[in-house]
Amino acid sequence: MERPEEDGIELLHSYAHGFMVSQVLFTSCQLGVFDTLAQAPLHAATLAARLGCSLTGTRRLLDACVALRLLSRDASGLYANTDMAATYLTSDGPKSQRDMMLYLAKTPYQLWAHLGHAVREGQNQYLRAFGTPSDDLFAAIYRADEERVAFHRALEATWRLEGRRVLTAFDLSVFPVICDLGGGVGALARACAALYPGSRVSALDAPDVLREARMCGGGGGGVRLCAGDFFRDALPRADLFLLARVLHDWPDAACRRLLRRLRAALRPGGAVLLVEAFPPRRAPAARAALLRMLSLNMLLQTRGRERAPRHYRRLLAAAGFPRARLARPHGPDAGVYGAMLATTAAPRPGPPIGSPAEPGPAPAHG
Ligand SMILES: C[S@@+](CC[C@H](N)C(=O)[O-])C[C@H]1O[C@@H](n2cnc3c(N)ncnc32)[C@H](O)[C@@H]1O
Repeated sequence: MERPEEDGIELLHSYAHGFMVSQVLFTSCQLGVFDTLAQAPLHAATLAARLGCSLTGTRRLLDACVALRLLSRDASGLYANTDMAATYLTSDGPKSQRDMMLYLAKTPYQLWAHLGHAVREGQNQYLRAFGTPSDDLFAAIYRADEERVAFHRALEATWRLEGRRVLTAFDLSVFPVICDLGGGVGALARACAALYPGSRVSALDAPDVLREARMCGGGGGGVRLCAGDFFRDALPRADLFLLARVLHDWPDAACRRLLRRLRAALRPGGAVLLVEAFPPRRAPAARAALLRMLSLNMLLQTRGRERAPRHYRRLLAAAGFPRARLARPHGPDAGVYGAMLATTAAPRPGPPIGSPAEPGPAPAHG
């Protein structure tokens, strides 16, 4: 059924001004509005003085935050964090997404200014946005130490919210040796080691990333860190490889190459757990739109894309993983990441815990 015209124009206005909403959120995080208000509710003048900002600008920013339900304002003019801001936007909460906001504010935001070029050319925009060539993708992503640190802090924030769910979607305790390939600073590997203390867990990533991982405790929690290039170096033997947000960086041919390499390094009966953005079963319109935006973001930022489950299944089957079961994001705090467990033979693990998993299609072979 067609929507009434007012709905149409209201929706259009919210789309057109979406960048303003993002900037209110990002700027408030960058200036420390939510961290400062976490100490105590304040009037605009006191907060402006604490932040070293103008009163006129601060007041308008705070009122915009009130309109977006990030802050509340009482009759005496005291501003306070709402539950949403207190939970997700202060620095030290267990569910804090502030580092993700700071990264989005800086790197993707600048890349998105070149969306038209990305669409015309079909490639990422590091050269235009930052003057950095991207022949070596991760040399562009890690073009400065502070960029690498900001990138990994942002990635870690996701696993604070979603790590447990993706790791318990299937019972991984049946895999004695687990290696997280492209495991970044080890956040997901640490969560895995905590959930499955009977398994030996390692994380493999580039040497610079591992240096950083060691500085932020990534090697703790029973996780062994290994430096290596997963496209070139010998991979450690394992019963399970985790590949979280790795395939979405690369084109199909590179994904198949990587999957074949890890298939060869698996011990008999081994498996791979892909953790990627998957749509929930009945995705609300806003979530379906977000997944499309994420795929555009991959165009701007990587050489890959977000893929539908059937696309991942094809890549897996071509690399010798004929069976794959999918656990989509679910529940109130679902986020966007789901898990696909792909096996080289008849599935070993029992039924998934956490959510009903979908069986894959009939195996192409094997
Ligand atoms: C998008 S990040 C995902 C990190 C982590 N798995 C997560 O989900 O937070 C991709 C990771 O792959 C790593 N990576 C890229 N190319 C690699 C290579 N050739 N060998 C090893 N790691 C690589 C990057 O350093 C980065 O940590």
